[in-house]
Amino acid sequence: MERRFRYCPAMRPDFEILPAMAGDAERLRAVMCRGFAGYRGRLQPESSVFAETAAQIAAKLAGGGGRLAWQGDAVLGCVIAERLARGSGRVGYIGRLAVDPAARGHGLGGRLVAAAEDFLRGQAMVHAEVHVRIALPENIAFFARRGYQETARGTHPGFAHPTYLVMTRPL
Ligand SMILES: CC(C)(COP(=O)(O)OP(=O)(O)OC[C@H]1O[C@@H](n2cnc3c(N)ncnc32)[C@H](O)[C@@H]1OP(=O)(O)O)[C@@H](O)C(=O)NCCC(=O)NCCS
Repeated sequence: MERRFRYCPAMRPDFEILPAMAGDAERLRAVMCRGFAGYRGRLQPESSVFAETAAQIAAKLAGGGGRLAWQGDAVLGCVIAERLARGSGRVGYIGRLAVDPAARGHGLGGRLVAAAEDFLRGQAMVHAEVHVRIALPENIAFFARRGYQETARGTHPGFAHPTYLVMTRPL
């Protein structure tokens, strides 16, 4: 039975980041939905994380790039790194980054990104790519502080204007 994290200021964060296997798909889905819950009704279009099924997540995890952040038996965060099939084949995509709202601001998000980048380096990827909503400047700043720069703008289907930035960094 998974324990829910409750932040206690006196508690020293001691997170452990471990690979997520196909059997962790439901755990990853649950923490991802907790992480993105604050965006409900704020993003146009709505984030696709709310519609993603455990089976779809399990298929992504088969690539080996999923990571879960644990504290004891509580799952506090997640990320999935994947090889992109297009272009040179040397670009990896980092997505589904989320940290439980109660556990934010302790470096966990940064550590999950670093773990995803390590995985991509191990796969001989030379660049990492993230897609960041233009409506979320705090996330654009988060990735910019980690060396990511805008390389393109993308538009969700049905929208007349760009809705997200493509940000990349060399690995
Ligand atoms: C983006 C996210 C993963 C960051 O997780 P996190 O564990 O708080 O990340 P970190 O602690 O490593 O970094 C947070 C940064 O914001 C800063 N910060 C400032 N105020 C903060 C606050 N009230 N709460 C959290 N962080 C705060 C921290 O100092 C830190 O600065 P740094 O980038 O210079 O290190 C988390 O906010 C999240 O899950 N958001 C919802 C899902 C999402 O947007 N995912 C990304 C999609 S592109």
